[in-house]
Amino acid sequence: MADAKVPYRSLLTVRALTPSLAGDFLGFFDHERGPAFADNPEWANCYCQFYHTPKAVDWAARGGADNRAAMAGRIAAAEMEGFLAYAGGTGDGTREVVGWLNAQPRNKLPHCFDRMRLAPTPLELPDFKAAQIVCFVIHPQWRRRGVARALLDAACESLARRGIESIEAYPFKAGDSEAATDHYHGPLPLFIEAGFGIVREEPTMTVVRKSLTPP
Ligand SMILES: CC(C)(COP(=O)(O)OP(=O)(O)OC[C@H]1O[C@@H](n2cnc3c(N)ncnc32)[C@H](O)[C@@H]1OP(=O)(O)O)[C@@H](O)C(=O)NCCC(=O)NCCS
Repeated sequence: MADAKVPYRSLLTVRALTPSLAGDFLGFFDHERGPAFADNPEWANCYCQFYHTPKAVDWAARGGADNRAAMAGRIAAAEMEGFLAYAGGTGDGTREVVGWLNAQPRNKLPHCFDRMRLAPTPLELPDFKAAQIVCFVIHPQWRRRGVARALLDAACESLARRGIESIEAYPFKAGDSEAATDHYHGPLPLFIEAGFGIVREEPTMTVVRKSLTPP
């Protein structure tokens, strides 16, 4: 079943972001060259920095260079986590980043509830034991091929292995829309299929959560 749902799984490798992969992350998001926002240049300034930026900071006033520098610093300091999907294997010179998932422990995302305009979800775990998913970006030419699925599977496994006990996500209520940007938190069916349960309904999002057990 897994392979039918991720038909290119044998071509995909998922790696947790580390400082040594900063160039791959930034190359994916550098919209003059990278593919992440090839079809959506208006959002290309983000560098996945939005949910890491305090609400007191005027997001609209920040440019791509500001966000790139902030994110580069965050990655260099090993304060940024998440997962990169590569096609073509790693280490052979032919790899290409085809997706990104911003999933990390809750203590690394202190501003995200504010930015989402959601009340923080109560949780009987310390923040460093619970993860959150706040963004996916899949290479436009790789969409609907199971890359988000592969990223989610790998993230749950990796986070569980290091002792994280719960993971939460906030899919948008996008109705029948299939617009890729309407699902940047990840589509609800993706999470339900992966074993997440609905915790709370909000006007614009559904809060879903899954318990993680070490493999
Ligand atoms: C939404 C997104 C993450 C999905 O990634 P993907 O790799 O194409 O998703 P998958 O192929 O793994 O699909 C898994 C399931 O999610 C759902 N899904 C995926 N794309 C969807 C879409 N565009 N609309 C509705 N449901 C969708 C489907 O249930 C799908 O299963 P199916 O193909 O068997 O029907 C991708 O389209 C994307 O990157 N969108 C842009 C996000 C963005 O703008 N991010 C930047 C924020 S600053």
